[in-house]
Amino acid sequence: MQNKTFMLATIDIAVTRAEQSKLTDINLENVPFGKYFTDHMLEADYEDGVWKNIEIKPYQPLLLSPSLAALHYGQAIFEGIKAYKNSAGEAFIFRPYDNMQRFAISAERMQMPAVPEELFMEGLKQLIALDKDWIPEKADHSLYIRPMMFASDEMIGVRPSETYKFLILLSPTGPYYAAPMRLYVEEKYVRAVPGGIGFAKAAGNYGASMHPTALARQKGYDQVLWMDALEHKYVQEAGVMNVVFIIGDKAVTPDLKEGTILAGVTRNSVLTVLADLGFTIEERPVSIDELADAYKKGALLEAFGTGTAATVAMIRELCYKDLVMQWDTTTWKTAPAVKKILDDIRSGQREDTYGWLVKA
Ligand SMILES: Cc1ncc(COP(=O)(O)O)c(C=O)c1O
Repeated sequence: MQNKTFMLATIDIAVTRAEQSKLTDINLENVPFGKYFTDHMLEADYEDGVWKNIEIKPYQPLLLSPSLAALHYGQAIFEGIKAYKNSAGEAFIFRPYDNMQRFAISAERMQMPAVPEELFMEGLKQLIALDKDWIPEKADHSLYIRPMMFASDEMIGVRPSETYKFLILLSPTGPYYAAPMRLYVEEKYVRAVPGGIGFAKAAGNYGASMHPTALARQKGYDQVLWMDALEHKYVQEAGVMNVVFIIGDKAVTPDLKEGTILAGVTRNSVLTVLADLGFTIEERPVSIDELADAYKKGALLEAFGTGTAATVAMIRELCYKDLVMQWDTTTWKTAPAVKKILDDIRSGQREDTYGWLVKA
């Protein structure tokens, strides 16, 4: 193994390269979501109020104590970002500063330490530079980036951990949802409450979603569409996606004011593109009854999810009580147009006028 230390603006990252790349065993033309990890990962420890042991090293298991605080009390957060390669072979990361900001918001809500920009961004860039060959070039494929932080104290007792681990993993990946989705409007279980942690990308939010989602899957649906916790009336989000509805010439989406919905980076990108396409953007409470009425009148033209993993995912069916709203998504214009614009920006085929790409 060869050890090297790069001097950064304010931090050093020790790099230990993998002796042999695993890339030869993997066909990047055919990778499922989140199953394979690249040759390297970034790891850092927070102790005594500072980040230390910052290193990029071969992807490997962690040695953890059974009393690990994160496993018991859930101080665990993460992010999801994607990197792409253009036709000249250059690697770009899509809006990583937005994810870094959201990571900081999640950390604060979960009483976890801030990860400095140098560590987050320089770590990300160095890691991607090292594993650049892992970025798939096929359409709808990319390198999924998973920054994560968890409480690493070895103790039992409810209090904020004093030590934390920050990691960045990279996973070459194909489409998350291969086909248009069927969603089940969930009226019993809720994802988040006002004052809770819905706006944070905290592991517990996902743990709590597993059971209701499994029940919806048993009924034949791909995901639940969450309603608000107080009245079970206002649309929130779905699985790992925000939701957008095209009603006439308006793009309508739930607002973020209550703090129960994750502020999606893709949501923001999609709304920006839709506004430029001439849609009136309405971020406001969206009741499921309003959607049902619009559907019955033929005014609910399209419904789609937006997310880093899912990109723009068309919804072909929405089941609400005994009303089954169905669409022939092959006739849709808006969702495919928005997806194409985003895809073209990411792959370098369209000018990035919004300044969303960051060179790795
Ligand atoms: C619960 C939830 N909502 C929405 C999103 C979409 O957010 P983004 O577009 O930043 O990926 C995600 C995925 O990150 C998510 O997990």
